Amino acid sequence: MQQQMQTTGGTTHAELDAWVKEVAAHTRPDRVVWVTGSDEEIEQINAELVAAGTFTKLAEDKKPNSYHALSDPQDVARVEDRTYICSVEEKDAGPTNNWMDPQEMKDLLWPLFEGSMAGRTMYVIPFVMGHLEADDPKFGVEITDSAYVVASMRIMARIGTNILRVMEEKQAPYVKGLHSVGAPLAEGQEDVPWPCNETKYIVHFPEELAIWSYGSGYGGNALLGKKCYALRIASVMARDEGWLAEHMLILKLTSPQDEVHYIAASFPSACGKTNLAMIQPTIPGWKAELVGDDIAWMRFGEDGRLYAVNPEFGLFGVAPGTGRSTNPVAMDTIERGNSIFTNVARTLDGDVWWEGMTDEPPAELVDWHGERWTPESEGPSSHPNSRFCTPIRQVPTIADEYDDPRGVPISAIMFGGRRKTTIPLVTESRDWQHGTFIASTLSSETTAAATGAVGVVRRDPMAMLPFMGYNASDYFAHWLELGKSADASKLPKIFLVNWFRRGDDGRFLWPGFGENSRVLKWMVERIEGRVDATESPIGYLPHPEDLDIDGLSLPEEDVTAALAFDPEEWEAEVPLIKEWFEKFGEELPAALRDELAILEQRLAGQ
Ligand code: GDP
Ligand code: PGA
Ligand code: MN
Ligand code: MN
Repeated sequence: MQQQMQTTGGTTHAELDAWVKEVAAHTRPDRVVWVTGSDEEIEQINAELVAAGTFTKLAEDKKPNSYHALSDPQDVARVEDRTYICSVEEKDAGPTNNWMDPQEMKDLLWPLFEGSMAGRTMYVIPFVMGHLEADDPKFGVEITDSAYVVASMRIMARIGTNILRVMEEKQAPYVKGLHSVGAPLAEGQEDVPWPCNETKYIVHFPEELAIWSYGSGYGGNALLGKKCYALRIASVMARDEGWLAEHMLILKLTSPQDEVHYIAASFPSACGKTNLAMIQPTIPGWKAELVGDDIAWMRFGEDGRLYAVNPEFGLFGVAPGTGRSTNPVAMDTIERGNSIFTNVARTLDGDVWWEGMTDEPPAELVDWHGERWTPESEGPSSHPNSRFCTPIRQVPTIADEYDDPRGVPISAIMFGGRRKTTIPLVTESRDWQHGTFIASTLSSETTAAATGAVGVVRRDPMAMLPFMGYNASDYFAHWLELGKSADASKLPKIFLVNWFRRGDDGRFLWPGFGENSRVLKWMVERIEGRVDATESPIGYLPHPEDLDIDGLSLPEEDVTAALAFDPEEWEAEVPLIKEWFEKFGEELPAALRDELAILEQRLAGQ
């Protein structure tokens, strides 16, 4: 018996229409709404979220048109152990991803979706990642039973009827994203402010261009355009089509000589991408503008250079640590409002606060559990992975090129992570192959952006460990291959950086944030061929006098220690790299093994 479901909107895209009807019949929502993206629609959705207790509206004079949300305390981060790449062949997912046979996974999940939207509205969100005017626009549709997801997707991606119309014209292919919080409501059952399910699955079917996400409302698990599509599924598309989908910010830098360089940088989650993308240089005459803060899609242009676009429309930034002294651009951005704040503390006068926003906390707050908090309270007021979700167009330093579907030509790629020891402030790779080796062995202390232990060193190749949609050895081979087929003189230089090295007493050796512009300046001088460097077993290091530390009030020994290559630390690092490479067995590209051998030889020859 097919129940008559109230539906608002619809499509002439026959295949999409059939899929939406199939999902609705199975998940049995009360109504189906095709999301238009209009202002009136979002006003109504926000009002519903306020009525449901999910959102609290912030004071208009503090953060206009902005909302505060508290998640279920168990639903605060990406769940990597519940994330699967269900490729047809197991070897196409391995060895770094969870895998299950696609049919087996569907047999397990489809019953979970049965009736999972009961008592709720099913929203259909047409979206495009990247520009609608791109040569080959990358469409998606997310079906979700979460109004919070709709409100967030409207900030994070280009969504709505104008996208759907273009999809219809072309009867275009698209990525199918199916999301349910997994909390059906029985007749008359009262809802909770943050519905979710203890059972969570974040599942990708790369051959079918499909994503099924169940049980979580958290950003990285539920906003399917972001990590699931623009990284995991897109990395597979990129492998097949000869481009790169990477976990990188894109920064435009203008030197005092008016040279423009675009730099991409890849750091694991919560390791400084958003901050670097919004950097305010502390050195005179340098200007920085933002193109992207989390994801870069890169392909070679006709001129042989590597061009990057930011496929996103918003920022989903780590709140704690963001303040006037560290990231004034982010503070100016959120001040303009139109934002969603999740799992941060609320002030009594209708604003938000989190650790690091100001030196002194307010005397009283409502913490991320919804409880009274004072500076004497145990634990932080905001969850360490609490987030702001803000339209990218509000960033005062946004570069005009953000709107260019052709993207920007990349001069340098930086890789980095959080390492207390071993990794110097900046190292330049010898060439693309060596840079790929460095990236494939990238390591970082884990953060609160994913569930699990925090502060444990793990290998996170290209900062893509949780986001590679296919076999890691094939992914490394793809990087090497692209480098080989390109004109070497036009390839971006590859650098390794570490803002997080510490002294014996645990203090950061390098002040970071705006001062990172000093490292960017050295990189540009290397690109322009203006300075020499010291060759070391791990790559080129700056001559200490070439790092501009003018006006930096810092003990000179800290700078020296931050820059230092320490052979003993590297002797200890090599076995860890070897152990990491063992994971890949024979599949590991020979070029990476060669690079490891070169590193060992050079260390031995010290
Ligand atoms: P993303 O998740 O990679 O975009 O990282 P964010 O830029 O949001 O930064 C994550 C956390 O690292 C925040 O708490 C920042 O305050 C902190 N952070 C960012 N850049 C630096 C830096 O240069 N030095 C130090 N010490 N902390 C930083
Ligand atoms: P991040 O993005 O890299 O800015 O932390 C979210 C995530 O990776 O979970
Ligand atoms: Mn990220
Ligand atoms: Mn970020």
